[in-house]
Amino acid sequence: MQILDGKKAAQAIKDQLKINVAQRGIEGKKIPHLAAILVGNNGASETYVGAKVKACEETGFKSTLVRMEDGISENKLLEKIEELNRDPDIDGILVQLPLPKHISDKKVINTISPDKDVDGFHPITIGKMVEGMPTFIPATPYGIMLLLEHYKIDTKGKHAIVLGRSNIVGRPISILLSGQGNPGNCTVTICHSQTKNLKEICLQGDIIIAAIGIAEYVKSDMVKEGAVVIDVGITRVTDTTKKSGFKLKGDVDYENVASKCSWITPVPGGVGPMTIAALMKNTYRSCEMSN
Ligand code: GUN
Repeated sequence: MQILDGKKAAQAIKDQLKINVAQRGIEGKKIPHLAAILVGNNGASETYVGAKVKACEETGFKSTLVRMEDGISENKLLEKIEELNRDPDIDGILVQLPLPKHISDKKVINTISPDKDVDGFHPITIGKMVEGMPTFIPATPYGIMLLLEHYKIDTKGKHAIVLGRSNIVGRPISILLSGQGNPGNCTVTICHSQTKNLKEICLQGDIIIAAIGIAEYVKSDMVKEGAVVIDVGITRVTDTTKKSGFKLKGDVDYENVASKCSWITPVPGGVGPMTIAALMKNTYRSCEMSN
């Protein structure tokens, strides 16, 4: 069993971006600038946005963190997005999800200019991805593709089982893996809460992408010997021995599954850092395109 080390692969991507940004600085070109909007004070969202801002600092990007209180009106949030859309210095805009219940995710996502949609959630962006046109690929699926590419995992003709049908991970990764190219050219099966015979389907998987958000759902009797297992889950589970009061668990029962795999991602240190590296690549691309 070998580890798909997302921390290492993400570092390699950020190191390259740092070189590129420094070169842009020398040439007097615009420096990439990411704006992140955080509504409320959800602990996990604070951590994710903090990591994104830190990655900007490490690579020489500019970043702007916009904090808004939990009770902010939907209109105020939409106005802020429109202001960032108009700002020529901003290359990428992300609004951290989930949002408070009184705010429509859809309206928020649809308000972000597709030219600055570095999260890749806007319907126009998704439409282009489905068509195979150049566009921003949603950060988590893009990060998974970059990780498979970094470790030169051969995906051609392989049967990929995607667990979960979210707009952020399950659906887009199924489209990317079934597309042409490498990574890609997979036969893809998407499973969800209504899928029958899930265990039997999982056992057919040469590649399993677990993105359901249930800690340690994928057990060793669901995984074929030699499978490549990508764990997108990141659930906080109470652990009183930790200072934070919790530990992070993936969707895969890592301890019992790892020995059956040819490759597996750890949690943390697998898909998480790759999501951030992918976001940085999208922001860099947006900056390049706007100049
Ligand atoms: N919440 C969970 N994943 C993501 C992501 O990739 N982007 C944003 N904006 N919010 C998220």
